[in-house]
Amino acid sequence: MKDFKIFAGSSNLPLAGKIAAKLGMPLAKIEIVRFADSEGRVRIEEDVRGKICFVITSFSNPVDNHLMEFFLICDALKQSEAEKIIAVIPYFGYGRQDKAYRPGESISARVVTKLIETMSIERIVTIDLHSDSVASFFDIPVSQLFGLSIFQSEIERLKDDLVIVAPDAGGAKRAQSFAEKVNAPLAMVEKKRNLDKIHELETLNVIGQVKKKTCVIVDDIIAGGGTVIGAAEILKKFGAKKVFVCATHANFIDGAKEKLANSSLEKIFVSDTILVPSAQLFSKLKIVSVDQLLVEAIKKVL
Ligand code: R5P
Repeated sequence: MKDFKIFAGSSNLPLAGKIAAKLGMPLAKIEIVRFADSEGRVRIEEDVRGKICFVITSFSNPVDNHLMEFFLICDALKQSEAEKIIAVIPYFGYGRQDKAYRPGESISARVVTKLIETMSIERIVTIDLHSDSVASFFDIPVSQLFGLSIFQSEIERLKDDLVIVAPDAGGAKRAQSFAEKVNAPLAMVEKKRNLDKIHELETLNVIGQVKKKTCVIVDDIIAGGGTVIGAAEILKKFGAKKVFVCATHANFIDGAKEKLANSSLEKIFVSDTILVPSAQLFSKLKIVSVDQLLVEAIKKVL
């Protein structure tokens, strides 16, 4: 294996630490400080000359802070003459803004990819992008890992009459891939968002057979919880026996914990691409780590 180091931004130190430990090394030393006016400062505290440097960071809440910090880390590595920088971005914030949904909107995901490209990065490793078009905005190689695969054994363990459910049309391809993995049929909820009101949505119909079945809703992100809770409610109306959720990114906003905990959902499986603070944990929530998935992807790059 080539000589490499693992650096971490501040968004998800536990995940970065687990990855480094599995690769048999400590996290590389870096100083990240924030001035009182919120401006960040970064300093690399190791010799990285001629080394391959992985930077692990999620663009999670506060998204812009973590993004800017990432730029500063990449710049500091360049100044310190790192040979290659590989960005490992378990959660790619801004990914949902992959097109102008209403006239006059910025294509924010493309803006972020173009900014990242100015950082002389060799490759991006990421997990379950909201849309494949985000990967296509990049001119540098992107390894997009199928994060939902980490939930396969949990779902197979349910040993029931399963149906995998896409909670909206946008998630149909993702749900289909998971359904193929666990060898179960597919259904879809028809969802309508109010684009003028953030986080407001309506579920209209269920396509597919869910009566007396155990449904597993598969999604990339949970934010307010409205999508999966709305899907669970309509699935129950259509006769579903039980409803579980597998979602890669636990991008919980205020109030999500209470809504999810009090919902009819049996269990919610999420990954640790985003660090869930202890105050947001609840008994129905089970976190499965993406550490091994990322370790294997890192080894492939070396
Ligand atoms: C949207 O299309 C995404 O795939 C997720 O379904 C969405 O971001 C979830 O948001 P919320 O939990 O607020 O409904």
